[in-house]
Amino acid sequence: MTYQGMIHRYGQLLDLPAHSKTISLLEGNTPLIPMPRLGKDLGCELYVKFEGLNPTGSFKDRGMTAAISEALGRGAATVICASTGNTAASAAAYAARAGLRAIVLIPEGKVAVGKLAGAIAYGAQVIQVQGSFDDALSLVVEITQKTPIALVNSINPFRIEGQKTSAFEICDDLPSAPDWLCLPVGNAGNITSYWAGFKQYQKGLPQVLGVQAAGAAPLVLGHPVDKPETIATAIRIGRPARGEQALSAAEESNGRIIAVSDEEILSAQKILAGEGIWVEPASAAGLAGLITETGKGSVDPKGKRVVVVCTGHGLKDPAIVTESFESPKIISATYEALIGVIRE
Ligand code: F0G
Repeated sequence: MTYQGMIHRYGQLLDLPAHSKTISLLEGNTPLIPMPRLGKDLGCELYVKFEGLNPTGSFKDRGMTAAISEALGRGAATVICASTGNTAASAAAYAARAGLRAIVLIPEGKVAVGKLAGAIAYGAQVIQVQGSFDDALSLVVEITQKTPIALVNSINPFRIEGQKTSAFEICDDLPSAPDWLCLPVGNAGNITSYWAGFKQYQKGLPQVLGVQAAGAAPLVLGHPVDKPETIATAIRIGRPARGEQALSAAEESNGRIIAVSDEEILSAQKILAGEGIWVEPASAAGLAGLITETGKGSVDPKGKRVVVVCTGHGLKDPAIVTESFESPKIISATYEALIGVIRE
């Protein structure tokens, strides 16, 4: 049978209320791409779970199909979220599909163009907040407590239910759960979801390496960060809503939460692109963490099966590439000019 979306495939394993009305864009079912060359360098059997291939270009669609299906079934007319961009685009698309109004709050000037454009294109009301993601999330929590507007951030438990399915897919694609799972951590909904998913599926448990950006690493520092900063704007978050759960996932799995620099993130982004996988900067944090921890000897992937989760597509943040690489040369339209630059 052709694929009919994530709730159709795994719905029986998801704790969604009976009133839910499934809204799907056939999200999920993303490829687990073998990375033999890079795996050889690191001495492990390495895979990328490429979540950038979801309908709106990020893993958020897994949680959003669940959250919007529940909100619609409950009779909500309007949904709202705070977002560093991907949640906004995903909420906008699924709300559009469901015929609901979407309002998205984003930190002013700090959202990559592909995400902002998506949210606008799908018809959401986009509001820029003079503050951080954390400030926007506080506003969203307050308004959903005082009005019937439905909250679709990952504080919403149905987002977590939906996002568990990536762990199920990984276990279905491999003989069992991998030995290590490496992924970026922002508001900490996704690491919480993977850990819940692996525990539920009972095909083994990975050690979890959660990776924050050094300028936005509250879980590594052990305290909130008031002014988070990183080029990986998706994870520019100083007060993760599910921080405690992220720390528990790392601890229970005998894994860890670490921080990597922006340079290490950009370098990992280039390494992935060199393998044909273009991701946005935050999405490269998992690989950056694996490489740095392996270098330090604090993670030993030798002989292990390792999955790196790449959470969002490179098209989300094209500016990071066009700004940091040399611009393409311009030549006159002659053979001589062309052969000249090719021989350079
Ligand atoms: N990677 C990408 C591409 C993201 O967009 C996010 C979060 C994360 C990783 C981290 O996931 O928050 O569950 O720990 N983006 C949210 C947003 C905050 O608003 O789009 P998390």
